[in-house]
Amino acid sequence: MIAEKIKNPERFNAVLTEEILKGAAEQAMRIMDKDIDEFFGYDKFPSHNSTDGYYDAEENDDGWNTGFWSGMLWLGYELSGNEKFRKAAETHIDSFYERIDKKLGVNHHDMGFLYTPSCVAAYKLTGNEKAKEAAIMAAKHLITRFNDKAQFIQAWGDVGAADNFRLIIDCMLNIPLLYWAYSVTGDKELDEKAYKHYKTTISNIFREDGSSYHTYFFDKDTGKPIKGVTHQGWADDSCWARGQAWGIYGLALTNKYHFTEESVPTFEAVLNFFANRLPKDNVPYWDMIFTDGDMARDSSAAAIAICGILEMIKYIKDEETVQLYKKIADTMMLSLIENYAVRDDDKSNGLLKRATYHYKGGIGVDECNIWGDYFYMEALTRYLKKDWELYW
Ligand code: GLY
Repeated sequence: MIAEKIKNPERFNAVLTEEILKGAAEQAMRIMDKDIDEFFGYDKFPSHNSTDGYYDAEENDDGWNTGFWSGMLWLGYELSGNEKFRKAAETHIDSFYERIDKKLGVNHHDMGFLYTPSCVAAYKLTGNEKAKEAAIMAAKHLITRFNDKAQFIQAWGDVGAADNFRLIIDCMLNIPLLYWAYSVTGDKELDEKAYKHYKTTISNIFREDGSSYHTYFFDKDTGKPIKGVTHQGWADDSCWARGQAWGIYGLALTNKYHFTEESVPTFEAVLNFFANRLPKDNVPYWDMIFTDGDMARDSSAAAIAICGILEMIKYIKDEETVQLYKKIADTMMLSLIENYAVRDDDKSNGLLKRATYHYKGGIGVDECNIWGDYFYMEALTRYLKKDWELYW
């Protein structure tokens, strides 16, 4: 993989002050506080995306998104000490336990998205044993999707189904649940299978220029790689912006558990491709084939990438690269705060506007989505709480 050089590095010049960050966090938490009172109470969850600015209230029995709201509440609790956030996040634990115990809506790989910001966070912050048990059950469930021959965790569909025998880049955020579960159980299989999945992912999902396929198919009988195919991107050979962002953050997160020097140039190639295709306001269009015009954005991709950069610069030794990457993160973050964060006069119960869930599927285009809100809160927390311990 060849890392592009960052073009016009001087464009990444934002000055992100403590005051701006605090104001943004306070605004976000005001919305969350109101959301508990007016929309979700203590036991309901926001839908994947808003419709005309508003999330619906849902049960925790389907999809991949409910963990994000719990995670936002834990972050809000960490930043403000607001007991209302803690109470709501703690109330969620029973429903996450029941969901994995009864296997409700879990025939997919998204156990990390569901259980890390909810139950792992609850355990790390409060020592809640039920949350720990639920997250371990979810991790054990996740590795049932690992295929020994092809060495990856199958994303969707019934295990072994030929028409779904693929990995997807998003899973880079699911495997930290396995690394964590190994750290608390000592069950090495969890760590080994996660790391094997990671290696299979990086050898196939990234192209020579650092861009990514969204999904990659393998032959069910031989386990050999077949081809990259998009699901939520513009085309098989384009680069879905959120997929690239999952790649950025996913590389950083595996580094937390399995640092290798070779991962740094890989990260540089993946991040530089992303940064070089940001439009003027530094928040990507939903696919990186678009670099200007009035196509829909995906603000959630920017929020995810910011978290990835802030994590990865802990492991990069070259100070000049660290400073440049920090500036890229700061510049995207300032744009999110100034141009995308929901304000008092917006009609919305979300935090971050102009995200896109699935453009071609016509789902959640130019709306809030709950992972955009979560990673925006996580980014604010990373900036404001320097010693923040990751949930991932
Ligand atoms: N993991 C699903 C998505 O990013 O839309």
